[in-house]
Amino acid sequence: MSFPPAIRRKFWGRDFSSPVMLASGTAGFGEELLDLQCLSGAGAVVSKAVTFNPREGNLPPRLLETPFGLLNSIGLANPGVYHVVKHLLPAAAGLPCPLLINVAGESVDEFADVVSVLEECSVHIGYEINVSCPNAAEGGAAFGVDPDVVLRVAQGVSKVTGRPFSVKLTPNGGDMVQSAKAAVEGGASAITVCNTFLGMHIDWETGKCVIKRKVAGYTSPALLPLVVARVWQVSNAVSVPVISSGGVSRGEDVLQLLAAGAEMVQIGTRLMRRPFAAGELMDEMKKLTGE
Ligand code: SIN
Repeated sequence: MSFPPAIRRKFWGRDFSSPVMLASGTAGFGEELLDLQCLSGAGAVVSKAVTFNPREGNLPPRLLETPFGLLNSIGLANPGVYHVVKHLLPAAAGLPCPLLINVAGESVDEFADVVSVLEECSVHIGYEINVSCPNAAEGGAAFGVDPDVVLRVAQGVSKVTGRPFSVKLTPNGGDMVQSAKAAVEGGASAITVCNTFLGMHIDWETGKCVIKRKVAGYTSPALLPLVVARVWQVSNAVSVPVISSGGVSRGEDVLQLLAAGAEMVQIGTRLMRRPFAAGELMDEMKKLTGE
């Protein structure tokens, strides 16, 4: 790798003018953003997680802002894969950048079942297999901490699609490097490092948790060094590209993650404050590197 890292990337055999991806959960299935200009500067969009059956998700409140970040407890709310295929993905054909579909499941087999249904669509270039949601009782992060389960999920997905897929791992328990190796052994074409960190907010006057499931997923620019370390560890251990997710608020953060070994860099919480963050980060990076 040369330094500073190049902003233009080659990923999954395609040329990307931007390494910035909109993380799962920030853009619906892409259709929500079509009329806005906030996709300018985005290299790709990752959809909200889709499961086989519709999911109501967790009781509100689902988001809680903290002084330095955001707690989320969505619970994989989505209308189910058949609704997504019929009603949401057709509009995503108008996206100006590639789409990856984030897939979640409550059992090892569900991931492959969802992907099988999505295979009838041509709007997406690949998948992000979400074995790491911290907000669902069934499946979720428990899948991602066990390399054997990760292996079986990846093998199941490999059997039903020829499209590339990334496996999104959890930072909450287990050994991420071992899970990443298992995902690659099972056929993964990338590793997303990583899902949200477990966090909690307790009202000290009442002792009650504001978030109903108590523990939630935490995102924050302060997590950048934690994500950089994990990207570096995983990218040095596997042969497939790493997609980083978490900790970005500035162009130099994206460049640091690329320097750590990420091929693409997802942004999430930043978009809540700055809907045009992808373009802003690109402008900052171009100024910094002169590219
Ligand atoms: C959620 O739906 O609760 C968040 C999704 C995730 O973290 O994977």
